[in-house]
Amino acid sequence: MTSPEPIYTLADLDTWSFSGTALAVLGHPIKHSISPPMHNAALAQMALNDRRFGSWKYFRFDIAPEDLPAALKKFYVRRFKGLNLTVPHKIIAFGLPDVAVTPAAQPIGAVNTLLRTEHGWTGHNTDGYGLATGIQEDLQRDLRGADIVLLGAGGAARGAAVECLQRSCASLTILNRTPKAMDELIELISTLDSKVPLRGIALKDLSSVPAGALVINATSAGLKPDDPLPVNLRSLVRPAGVYDMIYNPLETPFLAQARALGIPAANGLSMLVHQGVRALEIWTNATVPVEAMRDAVVKAMAAR
Ligand code: ATR
Repeated sequence: MTSPEPIYTLADLDTWSFSGTALAVLGHPIKHSISPPMHNAALAQMALNDRRFGSWKYFRFDIAPEDLPAALKKFYVRRFKGLNLTVPHKIIAFGLPDVAVTPAAQPIGAVNTLLRTEHGWTGHNTDGYGLATGIQEDLQRDLRGADIVLLGAGGAARGAAVECLQRSCASLTILNRTPKAMDELIELISTLDSKVPLRGIALKDLSSVPAGALVINATSAGLKPDDPLPVNLRSLVRPAGVYDMIYNPLETPFLAQARALGIPAANGLSMLVHQGVRALEIWTNATVPVEAMRDAVVKAMAAR
């Protein structure tokens, strides 16, 4: 059993001496991130075919939100090749002048992957790709052409909504506990040039939700054991599938209800893996071993 990798801080960048190519995830807290074992497993596998990757390593850093601007400057000076950002850094970095946000990430309002270039950091968002690929892999469903019922109106829901629209889903119906947040999200994404029918529905009036929809949970309901269901699946007509973006716990009460009702259901582990796959592709410009990353994630979850 190898000892866990240390958690570094901003101060460690002042004496940073790693001579290989460094990658890192930044969060606050960061202790529970399973991105380091996932990416390091991929890099170890890639090094078998391409020795260049033998000197690459992915670290974890606890960075307070107010320190992010200074931290990004230091990571750049220390020549880190790429960074992953978790909440709340995703949204903060989006607004920083040091980060050139790609056009694809603009409507999402958040970046989870930074790539070092000669001119500074470019900001990408790989979460939507992770979601679409995870749903395809686990539920064998394309977002394209699907009636989507999206639960939530926060940052995660915004990213999911943009991906559904960009992939030309058949319709997008948003449900949220607080109507005001739902209205704001709808207003925001209505400005995207999409022909997809888009609407919000009050949770107490679900009769007009399309039958056979793909339901995506982008709320945080289910993270804590006594959270309520984000929606009662019995109130929807024959959902075709349920994807819960939560992966810790591996089975939320919402997923348990889907399975009890015989609805194909999957948790957010595949999204985690595929957003990581896309990030590592952006940094390495190489083919990335998906299986090694999935195995590492499953192992890390089992060790919890
Ligand atoms: P994230 O970045 O993970 O999306 P967020 O922006 O805080 O986090 O958004 C959390 C989402 O989960 C919101 O849609 C929130 O609903 P409200 O707008 O009504 O607050 C939703 N949410 C959180 N706890 C919930 C609960 N117990 N039941 C239903 N929805 C919940």
